[in-house]
Amino acid sequence: MPQPRKLHDEFFKRAKAEGYAARSAYKLIEINDKRRLIRAGDRVLDLGCAPGSWLQVVEKLIGPSGIAVGVDLQEVTVDFGDNIFTCVGDAFTTEPAELKGDSGKPFDVLLSDMAPSTSGHGDDFLSARLCDRVLDLAPHVLRPGGNLCMKILEGEPTPQVIARAKKMFVEAGTSKPKASRDVSRELFIVGLGLRADIAAAAVASTKSPAIAPAKSLPDSPPETPPAKPSKPSKPSKAARSPREKTSKASKTPKASKGSKGSKGSKGSKAIKARGAEA
Ligand SMILES: C[S@@+](CC[C@H](N)C(=O)[O-])C[C@H]1O[C@@H](n2cnc3c(N)ncnc32)[C@H](O)[C@@H]1O
Repeated sequence: MPQPRKLHDEFFKRAKAEGYAARSAYKLIEINDKRRLIRAGDRVLDLGCAPGSWLQVVEKLIGPSGIAVGVDLQEVTVDFGDNIFTCVGDAFTTEPAELKGDSGKPFDVLLSDMAPSTSGHGDDFLSARLCDRVLDLAPHVLRPGGNLCMKILEGEPTPQVIARAKKMFVEAGTSKPKASRDVSRELFIVGLGLRADIAAAAVASTKSPAIAPAKSLPDSPPETPPAKPSKPSKPSKAARSPREKTSKASKTPKASKGSKGSKGSKGSKAIKARGAEA
């Protein structure tokens, strides 16, 4: 018989004590300790980043010379340094060019902890659909040799998603970190080293990955070695100054430097501003 969920479990308490926005932080820490996905100086894209604990982990790992962009349907209200950008946006309708920003530089690491609103029926298919979107985006946003870590809720379509990841990455497999609740069906698909031919085909193609019909998925409770990453160029001072976004708020993610309580309205800046500095 399944045990009732212990709300205040070890990882929940640790997250509170250590200042992480959610216990999910420890999942990424464990996966990264084992697989060395993220390195100092990396450019990291985090899809489904709210409330922000993965970004908090990423911020420590990449250091001040790295850059991270987080996208979520929800606003992130955690305080970050100047090199961490959060945007309200839907991964299904956000274009790779918007994610990469003005510099057009690809990311070294693509993370997705995106989760559908679970109902108990077809959650595995909704989760696989999110993962398929991540894999559609990967060749357009990741550099050759770049790494991936994405969450999937185990079920019927899972083997197909894993098989797809295996074709795209030099090395791919799954990970179930200790911080994942035993009762949870979540697994993490880890891909190391985006294959050069997959990345090249995306560059050669003028088409962006097909945009799936807009569908809002509400929040769920937070509960071969790859090639060495290239360092992003240093942000210029001028580029660091925020630029306000002017158009298309619904389809285009709105980047902000989140601050507790402000809900990101103050200091909002376009994702383009972040791209310019990279
Ligand atoms: C488990 S939470 C992520 C927790 C986060 N990694 C952290 O450590 O704080 C899952 C997130 O996926 C987001 N999400 C679900 N569908 C999405 C979509 N289509 N586009 C962007 N974010 C999405 C939800 O809004 C939710 O915040």
